[in-house]
Amino acid sequence: MTQQTIKAKTQRIQLPSDGDASGRSFGKEEMALLEQVVRSGILHATKGTMTKQLELEFAQVYSVEHCVAVTSGTASLHTAVAAIDPEPGDEVITTPITDMGGIAAILSQNALPIFADVDPKTYNLTAETIQAKITPRTKAIIVVHLFGNPCDMDPILELADKHGIPVIEDCAQAYLTTYKGKLVGTLGAIGCFSLQQTKQMTAGEGGLAITRNDSLARRMRLFRDKAWGYGDPKPDHYFLALNYRMTDLQGAVALAQLRKLKGMVAARQRTAGMLTEMLKGVEGLNPPRVTPGGSHTYWRYCLQADEEILGVDVNQFALLLKEEGIVSAPRYIQKPAFQCDLFKERKTYGASQFPYRGVASRQGLPEVVYDEKDFPNTMKALSRALVLPWNERYTEEHVRYIAENLIETAKECLKKNGKC
Ligand SMILES: Cc1ncc(COP(=O)(O)O)c(C=O)c1O
Repeated sequence: MTQQTIKAKTQRIQLPSDGDASGRSFGKEEMALLEQVVRSGILHATKGTMTKQLELEFAQVYSVEHCVAVTSGTASLHTAVAAIDPEPGDEVITTPITDMGGIAAILSQNALPIFADVDPKTYNLTAETIQAKITPRTKAIIVVHLFGNPCDMDPILELADKHGIPVIEDCAQAYLTTYKGKLVGTLGAIGCFSLQQTKQMTAGEGGLAITRNDSLARRMRLFRDKAWGYGDPKPDHYFLALNYRMTDLQGAVALAQLRKLKGMVAARQRTAGMLTEMLKGVEGLNPPRVTPGGSHTYWRYCLQADEEILGVDVNQFALLLKEEGIVSAPRYIQKPAFQCDLFKERKTYGASQFPYRGVASRQGLPEVVYDEKDFPNTMKALSRALVLPWNERYTEEHVRYIAENLIETAKECLKKNGKC
């Protein structure tokens, strides 16, 4: 289909939403497993069977030895950082374009988030940007496969190996995403997933952490359950830990969802591919750049809107699009993480600013400062990001409708900007 053959201003249609049943795939499978749990009267995973089965089947899908189910994606990342067990004031490198859950996980273990800049096209961390931030205090790297598009992992893993630093992969948005034929989440030391309402598979809330490493797995299992050594000859609370146990109700829904995951992801990829095809040659709108060697699983479809060509910024473009019934998230998270109050005012524990201040082992080290000037690509990327919601219930008709409105809106902008 070319730009010319697309008719302007078609009748409005309601797009399926991942916020309710219209854009989700819940059915008799979820109901059957849920009913089983409720009838058993065992709603917790400690004695129930569903969460254990979920862990088993998720580990099988990912060909790893261990899967640990927890209460959220944030909890999975916190559990991963806790398994690596940094000292207070140690550093964990991550991206400023992510969900706060991944960053809170670092600070909650009293480590310092150190942000690295991103690739301006994929919005992901790169080996070069990470390298610039490595210090003797770096204890982990958290990469985020943003929107479902994999990071370029080979150079990142090579760099991390050289320095002996474990890599945590945040796959909250990247179920079944691959990089050079391998599933992301299996490439680093630990892979973390979210089961929050909008993700490629969901149980409303929930999280999963996977690893091949036996001792990391043991620490993660302990951390999600107050570090009580269930089954040990002399169990005790071995270290400070929380209750991040998933319920078997969540386990049941997640298990049914897991069994549909391949189909749901394939549907997202098929329709996202259609949109990319329909937007070919449209001036001012650039479809997502899939990382070479990777597959994208489209939690969201992130376009780049070029202000210079369109003559309007991404916020204005999103408003025009909304008038046509297409909802989007311009700038994705509005501002990079380090510009949030938490970091600007270091609101951590009381008035202490810990661990930014008060860590004896950091005395004499330069203070951690987050300066916008160090993140030119991040600022540029956010200023262009136009994030479209996506889900497995989109049909060709929906995609055509989205494409028509994007193209029409872009054309109007180009006309006003004297570009056509
Ligand atoms: C990249 C990323 N990391 C972490 C999280 C945190 O997950 P949750 O909301 O399940 O805590 C999310 C999403 O919600 C996310 O998108």
